[in-house]
Amino acid sequence: MASNSFALLEKLCNAHGISGYEDEVRELIRSELEGVADELRVDRMGNLIAVRRGDEKKVMLAAHMDEIGFMVKHIEEKGFLRITPIGGWFSQTVLNQRAFVHTKNGKIRGVFGCKPPHIMKDEERKKVVKIEDMFIDIGAESREDAENMGVEVGSPVTMDRELSGLGENRITGKAIDDRAGVSAVVEVFKQAECEATLYAVFTVQEEVGLKGARTSAFSINPDLAIAVDVCVATDFPGVNVNQEINLGKGPAITVADASGRGLIAHRNVLKLLRETAEKNDIPYQLEVGEGGTTDATAIHLTREGVPSGVVSIPARYIHTPVEVIDMRDYRNTVELLVKSLERCEKYMKF
Ligand code: CO
Ligand code: ZN
Repeated sequence: MASNSFALLEKLCNAHGISGYEDEVRELIRSELEGVADELRVDRMGNLIAVRRGDEKKVMLAAHMDEIGFMVKHIEEKGFLRITPIGGWFSQTVLNQRAFVHTKNGKIRGVFGCKPPHIMKDEERKKVVKIEDMFIDIGAESREDAENMGVEVGSPVTMDRELSGLGENRITGKAIDDRAGVSAVVEVFKQAECEATLYAVFTVQEEVGLKGARTSAFSINPDLAIAVDVCVATDFPGVNVNQEINLGKGPAITVADASGRGLIAHRNVLKLLRETAEKNDIPYQLEVGEGGTTDATAIHLTREGVPSGVVSIPARYIHTPVEVIDMRDYRNTVELLVKSLERCEKYMKF
C-alpha cells in the first residue's frame, strides 16, 4: 500500500465535517496545498479553490469535503440528544454506533442507544428503527448537564470511526465518500502538468444538494470539468442490479448517472478520459448509474453549460461508517486524472 497516499487518506477520513461544517477538512487541504498552488482561496460558501495558472482555458476538478452526519435538534430533560440526518443515511446502519458531537467547546463522544433484545417485543425485532426515534447518549444526566458540556441545538454529529487497512489492498472507514476524492484531487493537483489553468475545487454541501459545486462553477466558468467521487460497487452479496462495477478493476468513468437525470457525461470529456486510459494502459470501468449524482450534475448546468464528466473510485457500503475502496483503484484514479490533464487541451474545442 503506497504509504504516502494512505497517510493523506487517513488524515482526511479521520477529520470531521458534515455539510456546512467542513472547516477541519478545509484546513487539512490548505496545509497540503499551501506553497504548491499559485492561488489558494476560500469563497463565500466555504469552497476551497486552488489555482495553477496556465493559458486562458480553464479546467475544473471538483471533490466534496462534506460527509453525511447529523445535527442536534433537541436536548431532552434527561440529557439525551435527538437528531436530524444531514445526508442520506439508511437508518439501520446508525444504531449503536459511536459518534462525536461537535460542540462549541470541542468534540465529545456519544453513542446511539437502543433497547436491548431482552425487552423487545417480537414485532419490534423485525422493525427498522427510524432515525427520528433514535437518540444519542453523551453521558449527560440532565439537559443542563448536556448544555454545560457545550451541546446546543445545531451541534453537528459525525461517526466515530478511524480509517483502517482491510486485507492487502483495501481500506475501510467513514467519509471515504468523498475524502478519497479529495485526497486524489490533492495528489493530482501536486503532480499534474496542464497547459490550461487548473482549478481544484474542494466543495461544500454536496451531500445536501450539490451546493458548493453550483456556486463555484458559476464563478470559475470552466471550459471543462471533472467531478471526482466514489460510486456504488456492485460486487458483493445481495446486490441485484444487472450491472457490474468491481473493486480493483479501475476507476469508473461515468457515462450517465441517475438514469440520465443527473448527468449525461459530455462526449468530449468521455473521449478524453477513455482515450487517456487506453493510451496509458490504465484499467477503467464504464458506469451507467440509476441512483446517486455528483457535483458534475450541478456544474454542467452552470451558465450556458459546462462540458463535464465524472471519475469515481468504486466503493462498497457507501454512506455507512465502513465504506471500502481498493487502493489500486485510488492510485489509478490519480494517474488517469494526471494523464488526462496533460492532454485535455485538444478536447476543449467546441
Ligand atoms: Co455521498
Ligand atoms: Zn460523494
